[in-house]
Amino acid sequence: MRAGVFPLPFLFAVPDEPRTMTSNAPQVVILAAGQGKRMRSHLPKVLQPLAGRPLLSHVLHASRSLSPARLCVVVGHGGSAVRESLDAKDITWVEQSPQLGTGHAVMQALPQLAADGVVLVLYGDVPLISPATLRALVQAAAPGKLALLTQVLQEPGGYGRIVRDRDGRVARIVEEKDASAEERAIAEVNTGIMAIPGARLRAWLERLRSDNAQGEYYLTDVVAAAVADGVAIEVRHPAAEYECLGVNSKRELANLERRLQMREAERLLEAGVTLADPARIDVRGELECGRDVFIDVGCVFEGHVVLGDGVKLGPHCVLHDVAIGAATEIRPFSLLEDARVGSNARIGPFARIRPGTELDDDVHIGNFVEVKASRVGRASKANHLAYVGDSTVGADVNIGAGTITCNYDGARKHRTVIEDDVHIGSDVQLIAPVTVGRGATIAAGATITDDVPPGGLTLTQKKQVTKPDWQRPRKK
Ligand code: UD1
Ligand code: CA
Repeated sequence: MRAGVFPLPFLFAVPDEPRTMTSNAPQVVILAAGQGKRMRSHLPKVLQPLAGRPLLSHVLHASRSLSPARLCVVVGHGGSAVRESLDAKDITWVEQSPQLGTGHAVMQALPQLAADGVVLVLYGDVPLISPATLRALVQAAAPGKLALLTQVLQEPGGYGRIVRDRDGRVARIVEEKDASAEERAIAEVNTGIMAIPGARLRAWLERLRSDNAQGEYYLTDVVAAAVADGVAIEVRHPAAEYECLGVNSKRELANLERRLQMREAERLLEAGVTLADPARIDVRGELECGRDVFIDVGCVFEGHVVLGDGVKLGPHCVLHDVAIGAATEIRPFSLLEDARVGSNARIGPFARIRPGTELDDDVHIGNFVEVKASRVGRASKANHLAYVGDSTVGADVNIGAGTITCNYDGARKHRTVIEDDVHIGSDVQLIAPVTVGRGATIAAGATITDDVPPGGLTLTQKKQVTKPDWQRPRKK
């Protein structure tokens, strides 16, 4: 759609009432209305996950670290989905429809902005921007200047270029599609992120025209407007080059994911964690580690995970919202969700620890054992092929191979209580609700339907019979 056909009154929403600001905190405007065609996805671009969180939530996080006076997000394509998934009290959502360029996007936010302080413009698809870089930019703009975040790139193709005058002062920004061959040779590019004095913003936006190669209202044209008004342009650079990388395709998304994960791995290494391979760890949340933690390859961390001193994780474990006590070992291919594990425990290989599980110190959970919504007391063991669900298990209990707590009657779940020092033989079914008394021993193969008294041996086996004359059927 050609933008030039829209008269100016259409471009400006009418301000409801003038707002005044209470502090020097910036007003943040995040541009997130673009379609992101190149993602080839039904999910709006800014909702695509990076390290397990939507792209936009990374930008919101960086913005909030500045305690902004206002936090506006401009949405268009897939706007309602974006709003639904990230809505919060501190966000002012602004609709931009149709999308007529970055300048037009900021115009839509104008009625929500106070006419003083600094307006910081961010992109919803540039997720790794750091709070330190943003603070420096806002500070540069605070005395009423226009502050640009620029970067010198070896391959500046695709970006707007920073055009400077003979004295080296910034004169304007030219978009690649509008640039002369000479301008295209400029290596200093516009990252798109800028801090603008709020008092001037409206006047500069009103001057934007869409008579350019893309027929859009370019936010970048406020630079020439500022220069014409004699306002100095301040330039700052990001602390790291990757901070300003945008996401336009799955390829770029994957590239940022690896950079972010490498940054996280470096943070862990600096904190003294041993990583078998820093390139093979995925932290999709928050990972806190004590001293002398070892993490083998292929582990995935989601939500909030805490690993105590000396915890050892084998290869390919997945931990979601779990806390693991000191010196506990999680052996390969184990999945733990919403659980707490004490110290000196041994979990896996191939263990599945489901939500609502609490395992005390010295517990052993072995291969192909599933534990759900259960408490398992100190030094108890279920080493092979068992299901422990909706159970309270005491201390020093031994659960034999193949033992199943039958917790579900088809309609309701029932609890199993196993008191301290109980020994359960192999292949036992405990039909809940049922309680096994302290010190009881249950023989292999028993089906327990009634409470078991403390101590003694309980068995329910049928007598073993052999029919010596029986003939096995044979094919003719
Ligand atoms: C923009 C800059 C360019 C800079 C580059 C950095 C302009 C005119 N150009 O170009 O100088 O080098 O970013 O990546 O600003 N958006 C809206 N509404 C719109 C158009 C865009 O919300 O109508 C949002 C997009 O969702 C995106 C951001 O603004 O988050 C940038 O838009 P994009 O179209 O990618 O800008 P570029 O042409 O790359
Ligand atoms: Ca872009």
